[in-house]
Amino acid sequence: MRQVTLGLTKATVSAISLGTWSYGGSNTIGDRSVGWSGHDDETAKQALIRAWELGINHWDTADAYGNGRSEELIGEMWDAAVARKDIFLATKLGWVMGPHDHYYHPDFMRHQIELSLKLLKTDVIDLLYLHHCMFGDADEFFDPAIEVLRRAKEEGKIRFIGLSDWDPKAILKYADKTNPDVIQPYRNVMDDDYVTSGLRAWVHQHNVGVAFFSPLKHGLLTGKYTEPTTFPVGDMRLGVPEFSDPTVLAKIREANKTLTATFSTHPQPVLHGLLDVLLTDTPTGCVLLGQRSPAQVEAAALAGTEMAKRDAEWVRSLYRAC
Ligand SMILES: NC(=O)c1ccc[n+]([C@@H]2O[C@H](COP(=O)([O-])OP(=O)(O)OC[C@H]3O[C@@H](n4cnc5c(N)ncnc54)[C@H](OP(=O)(O)O)[C@@H]3O)[C@@H](O)[C@H]2O)c1
Repeated sequence: MRQVTLGLTKATVSAISLGTWSYGGSNTIGDRSVGWSGHDDETAKQALIRAWELGINHWDTADAYGNGRSEELIGEMWDAAVARKDIFLATKLGWVMGPHDHYYHPDFMRHQIELSLKLLKTDVIDLLYLHHCMFGDADEFFDPAIEVLRRAKEEGKIRFIGLSDWDPKAILKYADKTNPDVIQPYRNVMDDDYVTSGLRAWVHQHNVGVAFFSPLKHGLLTGKYTEPTTFPVGDMRLGVPEFSDPTVLAKIREANKTLTATFSTHPQPVLHGLLDVLLTDTPTGCVLLGQRSPAQVEAAALAGTEMAKRDAEWVRSLYRAC
C-alpha cells in the first residue's frame, strides 16, 4: 500500500485508509437513520486484522458511530494481535449532543474525550476532529469548542486537531480560525465541491492533511447495485436517493464498464478509477474507505496507486454525467 504524508502531522498513512462508520451497526436519531445494517462484529474484526497486515494503518471512527460501539470494537483489537503503535487512530466528537441543547458544550466534549480514550483503550488519540461546523447562529460555540481541543492537546490526550463537515464550504469558513492539522471533507467522483468551494486551494496554501470521506458514495459507485435498492430503518443509505434511482444506477454501471476496459491492466480497475482519482490533486491526502470485510480490505489494498493527471481528468468527466 502506497503511503502518504498527512500534511502538517508528518504522519505516514496509507493512501487508502479505513473508515469504520458501519462498525457501529444500525442506528437512529429520532426518525433519522444514521447507522448501517449488515454489520457483523467478527467480520469487522477480521477486516481490521487484515488491514493491519496489509499496511492500511490509519483508522477513522467517531463517538457517534453506534454510540461508541465502533470505537469499542477498535479498542478490542489491541488484545487481538494488532499493535496500537502501528495505527494512526482518528476519532471525532460533535454528533452526540448529550444532556445539552447544542452539540459543542465544553463539559460534554471533555466527557466524550475521556469516553473515547476509554473505549479505544488508548492513552492518546492521534487525531480528534470536530465532526461538523454547526457552531451556533453567531458562532458562539466555536471558541469554547476549540479551547477544549487545544487543552486536550496540551494535556497529551490528543496529538492533532481535525475539522470535518459534509459541506466543504463550511470547513473553509472555519479553516483559518481552527488552524487544523487535518481536514475531513466529503468527496467522490459524483459529489466534488472540494475544488469549486475553494477548499483545495486553501489546503495547498496551508499544507494540511486531508482525509476524503465516502469516496464510493457509501458503496453506490461500486456498481454492485443493479436494481433500485432500499435499506432497513437504521441504515443511513435509506436517505440516499440515488440507491433507488434506476437511471443513475444504469449510468454508474456503464461508466464502471468503461473504467474496467481502460484500466484493464490494473488489478482493481474500478477501485483504482474511483479512489485514486481523488488523490491526484492533493498530495497531502488519503481516502477513507468504509471496508467491512477482509475481502474488501484485500481489494482496497491493491488500489492507492498513482494516477496520471490526464487520466484523472478523464475519470472525472466520465462521472460528471451520472
Ligand atoms: N466526517 C464525516 O462526517 C463522515 C461522513 C461519512 C463518512 N465518514 C468516514 O468515511 C468512511 C467511509 O465513508 P462511507 O462509509 O460513508 O462510504 P464509502 O467508503 O464511500 O463506501 C463504503 C462501502 O463501499 C463498499 N466497499 C468498500 N470497500 C470495497 C471494496 N474493496 N470493494 C467493493 N466495495 C467496497 C461497501 O459497500 P457494501 O456495504 O455494499 O458492501 C462499503 O459499505 C466512514 O466509515 C467514516 O469513517 C466521515
